[in-house]
Amino acid sequence: MNPTNEQTIQRAAKVLPGGVNSPVRAYGAVGGVPTVHRRARGAYVEDLEGQRYLDFVGSWGPLILGHAQEEIVEEVARVAANGLTFGAPSLLEVELAEKIVSWYPGLEQVRCVSSGTEATMSAIRLARGATGRDRIVKFSGCYHGHADHLLVAAGSGLTTFGQPSSEGVPGAFAELTTVLPLDDTDRIEKLFQEQGAEIAAVIVEPVPANNGLLVPRREFLETLRRVCSDHGTLLIFDEVITGFRLARGGAAEHFDIVPDLVTFGKVIGGGMPVGAFGGGRELTKHLAPEGGVYQAGTLSGNPVAMAAGKKTLEIMERDQGWELLEQRGRQLEERMAPVIKEAPFPLQLVRLGSLFWFAAQQGDAPRSALDIDASAADHYGKMFHGLKDRGVLLAPSAYEVGFLSLAHTEQDLDVFAGALKDCLDEIRAAP
Ligand SMILES: Cc1ncc(COP(=O)(O)O)c(C=O)c1O
Repeated sequence: MNPTNEQTIQRAAKVLPGGVNSPVRAYGAVGGVPTVHRRARGAYVEDLEGQRYLDFVGSWGPLILGHAQEEIVEEVARVAANGLTFGAPSLLEVELAEKIVSWYPGLEQVRCVSSGTEATMSAIRLARGATGRDRIVKFSGCYHGHADHLLVAAGSGLTTFGQPSSEGVPGAFAELTTVLPLDDTDRIEKLFQEQGAEIAAVIVEPVPANNGLLVPRREFLETLRRVCSDHGTLLIFDEVITGFRLARGGAAEHFDIVPDLVTFGKVIGGGMPVGAFGGGRELTKHLAPEGGVYQAGTLSGNPVAMAAGKKTLEIMERDQGWELLEQRGRQLEERMAPVIKEAPFPLQLVRLGSLFWFAAQQGDAPRSALDIDASAADHYGKMFHGLKDRGVLLAPSAYEVGFLSLAHTEQDLDVFAGALKDCLDEIRAAP
């Protein structure tokens, strides 16, 4: 017989710090024992105890086609049979890069890496190398992976655990990072008037999705574009979540604003570990072996990962995936509207494309981490467990977004809305 989730987490805690390989997987913020997954298909995951869940975590974003999509699995098996890694150029990496470059506005070259963290870390190094400047600007609540200089005021993982920043990040590194609030164009203008000539790059999630879903005003991104251009600063869109999810050309296409550098992850790996960063030729020529900015990776451009990513993008295009996901998103809103209206505490569904988030507050949807009502987290634990008990899995943090995939059907959305209704009724009835 399989061990239980609890037995496995206890066993894990002896050999894995906190029992997990990434902190957001722990249930610290919601209490209880994490589900230990043993298999998944389509919109569903199954834990070690045989319990099935309708899943809206989607491995935190990569699975835009759903779990273990048949064509992806077949392609991975086919390519793997020819070699798991070469550490040498392959045709597949060229084909994936050609697709990425042709779809993303203003992009001429990309370098593939193995995670989103590597992509943002390398893009910052490239920006510093290309401009000869050290200072970077990021926004409070935006998460760009866990590289030292980016792990300051960095969104859900840290917010969930109540930490402004990580221990182990030298103060001297963090000092080179200026953190500003999102949505505050005056602060940006002022900073650039004073220090513009020292700033190598501004990095932003064009749709911040790591501290709730903070859908920006276009004007905010426009201001970033303008001040960066005026001061010789590079604008980096971190599209690790939004790239190939929000639109074929990511948030850049959605908002019609072109960054100087872009970072990708998640969807471009189709479930395998892939990231990428890139920009125009004038910038990428600074990368080794052509230029002096060093960046490398043993498994970069891994053929199996490239194949999964390429196939994912092909299927999204073939099946008009972005239109379908927008339709699903609208259907989710329609189904949730009457349920949310009756919620026993303030609740709204914030959505953009296939990204969604339950904000436990009324009024305008928050656009900055500062706008989020901190009491939201209190309600979330109950909602999370109420849904989980009814077979629906959301992320174990009030600040994480949900992901729709092409595997979610209208019936799945009915199940989700029904489960939320029951769960909110139960919360209302509780003394
Ligand atoms: C916007 C953004 N950038 C970077 C990263 C880091 O990516 P990875 O976890 O693959 O290192 C993430 C991860 O969630 C992310 O959401």
